[in-house]
Amino acid sequence: MASEKDSMKNILIVALSVCFVCSVIVSGAAVSLKPERMANKALDRNKNILIAAGLYERDVTQDEEIDGLFESFEIRVVDMQAQRLLSESEVTETGIDFSRYDQRKAAKDPALSVSLSSEEDIASISRRANYSIAYLLKRDDKLERIVLPIHGYGLWSTLYGFIALGPDGNTVSGITFYEHQETAGLGGEIDNPKWKGIWPGKEIYGTDGNVALQIIKGSVDSNAPGAKHQVDGLSGATLTSRGVHNLIGYWLGDKAFGPVLKNLEGGT
Ligand SMILES: Cc1cc2nc3c(=O)[nH]c(=O)nc-3n(C[C@H](O)[C@H](O)[C@H](O)COP(=O)(O)O)c2cc1C
Repeated sequence: MASEKDSMKNILIVALSVCFVCSVIVSGAAVSLKPERMANKALDRNKNILIAAGLYERDVTQDEEIDGLFESFEIRVVDMQAQRLLSESEVTETGIDFSRYDQRKAAKDPALSVSLSSEEDIASISRRANYSIAYLLKRDDKLERIVLPIHGYGLWSTLYGFIALGPDGNTVSGITFYEHQETAGLGGEIDNPKWKGIWPGKEIYGTDGNVALQIIKGSVDSNAPGAKHQVDGLSGATLTSRGVHNLIGYWLGDKAFGPVLKNLEGGT
């Protein structure tokens, strides 16, 4: 006969107590580690901005140096509706605390974003935040780089990254993707330093002022007339490549950062 200890009631009490203790430990750890997680997230974002701007040297730059290097950036707010950089007083007038602003969260909040029409939504992002952050790297008050957040759908996932442009707002100085779920070895090659190394020096806009940069299938013929606007497609990953092509077309186009970039001389 089963002893009193093995009764269903006792088994349930022990199982529930173990679940309760474990859930307290897990949620306690999650809460107590939240500041650390947030700090790591910010560190990773800042590292990616430095990578895009070409200021981060893999295997050389230490985590402790990232904050120091990042301080060289002027952090500015872009009004995506007005398509221009806001002055400090205009930022205050928005009533938004941009030191805690999360653009990705804002893009999901109907009060802080707009829905894109299917014609506009070439990057397949559905909504766009009303405000974006731009990172300006200046030396002796002269603009050297502008780093902008970009995102758009690939094959399996949304690709989140940054693109850095020179002071002409046209020449690419770097690109990086810090989050996506594309297949390693196929679409995941957007992370490959070799592929990202093709981008610096490419030009975004054609003589008509429209986005001319395209990701082509195969390799770029460096002697072809449009080579400065072309980037090699990733082999076996045409759909992810198309996603990158589309997100560049949207974010650097005239419905997003295009007018900001064309007015960099007068508007920084
Ligand atoms: C398991 C699996 C994962 C794949 N992952 C990707 C991917 O991440 N990105 C992508 O563009 N294509 C991916 N593909 C391939 C696409 O289905 C498609 O064949 C490819 O984009 C076509 O590119 P290609 O014309 O360069 O061959 C994957 C295919 C399979 C079977």
